[in-house]
Amino acid sequence: MTNLFDPVQLGELDLSNRIVMAPMTRSRAGEDDAPTELNVEYYRQRASAGLIVTEGTQPSANGKGYCRTPGIHSAAQIAGWRKVTDAVHAEGGKIALQVMHCGRIGAKANKDAGAETIAPSAIRAAGQMFTDTAGMVDFDMPRALETDEIPALIAEFGQATRNALEAGFDGVELHAASGYLPMQFLSTSANKRTDRYGGSVENRIRAVVEMLEAMSEAAGPGRIGIRICPGVVFNGIQDDDPAETYSTLLRAIDPMGLAYLHLILLKSPQVDGLEVAKASFTGAMILNDSITLGRGNELVDSEEAAAISFARHFLSNPDLVRRFREGADLQRFDRKTLYTPGPVGYTDYPFMIG
Ligand SMILES: Cc1cc2nc3c(=O)[nH]c(=O)nc-3n(C[C@H](O)[C@H](O)[C@H](O)COP(=O)(O)O)c2cc1C
Repeated sequence: MTNLFDPVQLGELDLSNRIVMAPMTRSRAGEDDAPTELNVEYYRQRASAGLIVTEGTQPSANGKGYCRTPGIHSAAQIAGWRKVTDAVHAEGGKIALQVMHCGRIGAKANKDAGAETIAPSAIRAAGQMFTDTAGMVDFDMPRALETDEIPALIAEFGQATRNALEAGFDGVELHAASGYLPMQFLSTSANKRTDRYGGSVENRIRAVVEMLEAMSEAAGPGRIGIRICPGVVFNGIQDDDPAETYSTLLRAIDPMGLAYLHLILLKSPQVDGLEVAKASFTGAMILNDSITLGRGNELVDSEEAAAISFARHFLSNPDLVRRFREGADLQRFDRKTLYTPGPVGYTDYPFMIG
């Protein structure tokens, strides 16, 4: 029987176990969106995961949506991340950077002066987000990218990957879920373009395929993953036919030889994401969302998943791997401190004693 404590190889990534820490935005980056010693400590504490996937990290100033999220586009940010990766590696862990471009999910108050909110189409998402200076505000009205601007956007993902390698990351994951920029290109509700990046499904998947190509060119495909959640209705996103969109996307990227597909399972009335993925993607899969230890063991034993990722359990249990191994109780997370600055609710969740 294979279980979550067994090692596994995902492309070029050698994991000592199959318990992955899922990406979590925690809004605790320092000055100029650079990681700090506090972030180093948080990730060091969780280094017994087979692989840590970091919080969503912007590849450019335009890519930032939320307050206090880190970037990977300046020398200070690369230097800050280098301390994080060194700490995780010193503990024997592995760590991938999640690249997250928020696209239209943004607010000027969270961005640097001069940065803009851009998207495939000038369609504002319904909803609001928190800002430090103005409290809750509506999402910005985005500016639609011109066709001749798209190569530079795609290049941001290649450059972010090169920067991540310079910062010592083992891999890079493209965040193509949750209604952010890559998913905005994929989805019929956010992409009304009439050029080669919109309209037909082949056109809607093009930007994401090109992002992955740019990332693979930078690091080799065996260090690149992609995260998707077919059918999710979040951040104002909606797709008329997610089964068609994601089967077309996965068939197009399957030959690339990526390290993994990170799939958020979702009960969607429109689509069974796992069925679509199994039918259209032959590489390794990391499955996520509210999966128990027992179910996770079943999924890796049946080879439906190569690994399982856990978000909230890792947030409140830095020693989650040990707790799972010993059948120990899990601590609950505190909702009030998910995104607050400072160590409380971040680096102060206790380890097991003894
Ligand atoms: C505080 C918090 C922040 C999150 N931020 C991200 C993120 O930056 N990128 C991402 O892909 N998913 C993000 N997620 C989603 C998680 O990775 C995961 O899909 C979700 O929590 C379900 O997994 P779980 O049942 O193990 O918690 C976040 C979740 C939480 C709780």
